[in-house]
Amino acid sequence: MALKKKYALLSGLIIVTAVLLLPAMIPNLGSLPPQPIAFNHRLHMERVQGIGCRDCHQLAHLQTYAGIPSKFVCFDCHNPDANESDANADAFKPEFGTLMAFAKTGEDIPWHRVTFTPEDVFFSHRRHVAVAKIDCRKCHPEIPDRTSPLDRGPIMMGMNTCIKCHEEAKASVDCVACHR
Ligand code: HEC
Ligand code: HEC
Ligand code: HEC
Ligand code: HEC
Ligand code: HEC
Repeated sequence: MALKKKYALLSGLIIVTAVLLLPAMIPNLGSLPPQPIAFNHRLHMERVQGIGCRDCHQLAHLQTYAGIPSKFVCFDCHNPDANESDANADAFKPEFGTLMAFAKTGEDIPWHRVTFTPEDVFFSHRRHVAVAKIDCRKCHPEIPDRTSPLDRGPIMMGMNTCIKCHEEAKASVDCVACHR
């Protein structure tokens, strides 16, 4: 009887410990810290005539990763030397204060990445965007409508999404093509 009680207590303890440790074992589950600037994709896609994803994410056609643009890409359009009397006074909205503060420092904007595949999965933007000529929106459909950065993550593209398209496009479905 006493022994049974001891086991019950022990297994109870193990369950409680496991439940307490679970969040620590699944990193970044749930909300991410906010991005340094509340960047608005939709506004940029609508207000800048002829702008493409590629104008800011310039590495996607060349590298495995797409990259989040450096501050100098922003300064192509948002002049850090402008002042309030300029015609472009529109540029002095609250969010700009944060952007312009980065013009005065040597640091770049500390954006953090949200979309991932696991480390053992190989994915190349160049291969899909430049070689297979797939539109960014096909894999990132939510982005053009976002008025604020993605705030929940990490966002993982599931294996079934990759395989479904690979089957349709007659691309490789060999395990080692993606798991290297
Ligand atoms: C075939 C699907 C697919 C297409 C097409 C695609 N992406 Fe991605 N994107 C992904 C996947 C998968 C990840 C996660 C990649 C990883 O873990 O390496 C990702 C990650 C990203 C990231 C964050 C990480 C990084 O690579 O810097 C950005 C930014 C991004 N994509 C932008 C773009 C843009 C811009 C285009 C078009 C020029 C594009 N993507 C086209 C699937 C795609
Ligand atoms: C191709 C030109 C262009 C580039 C590059 C560009 N922007 Fe903009 N941005 C605009 C235009 C146009 C607006 C709308 C301006 C307006 O109406 O006052 C805008 C508006 C904004 C606003 C104000 C939005 C709001 O919520 O009121 C912020 C903040 C901003 N951009 C940040 C950035 C950042 C950060 C980058 C770099 C990653 C960037 N922009 C790159 C053209 C650009
Ligand atoms: C004016 C510059 C600009 C343009 C144009 C732009 N982006 Fe972005 N993109 C950014 C910035 C800055 C971030 C980081 C802040 C955020 O997440 O909103 C970002 C973030 C992203 C992310 C999330 C990266 C991650 O870590 O997961 C994806 C995916 C992405 N962009 C895809 C696109 C696609 C697809 C298009 C075209 C429809 C596009 N972007 C057009 C500047 C731009
Ligand atoms: C919308 C369609 C589409 C999606 C989604 C997609 N792919 Fe692809 N992928 C292709 C096409 C088409 C090719 C062939 C490109 C070429 O001609 O080289 C390809 C090629 C590849 C290759 C090179 C294969 C080889 O033969 O060496 C890898 C690796 C790969 N994809 C990984 C992924 C991963 C990982 C994902 C999911 C995160 C994914 N792909 C999602 C269409 C897609
Ligand atoms: C076109 C790319 C692609 C191919 C081909 C592919 N996988 Fe995956 N696989 C992925 C991606 C992306 C993930 C991570 C997302 C997820 O868990 O759904 C994944 C996840 C997995 C996982 C979960 C563990 C992990 O690595 O995160 C296993 C197990 C797995 N794949 C086995 C296989 C086997 C076995 C094959 C061959 C029959 C295969 N995969 C073929 C893209 C691929």
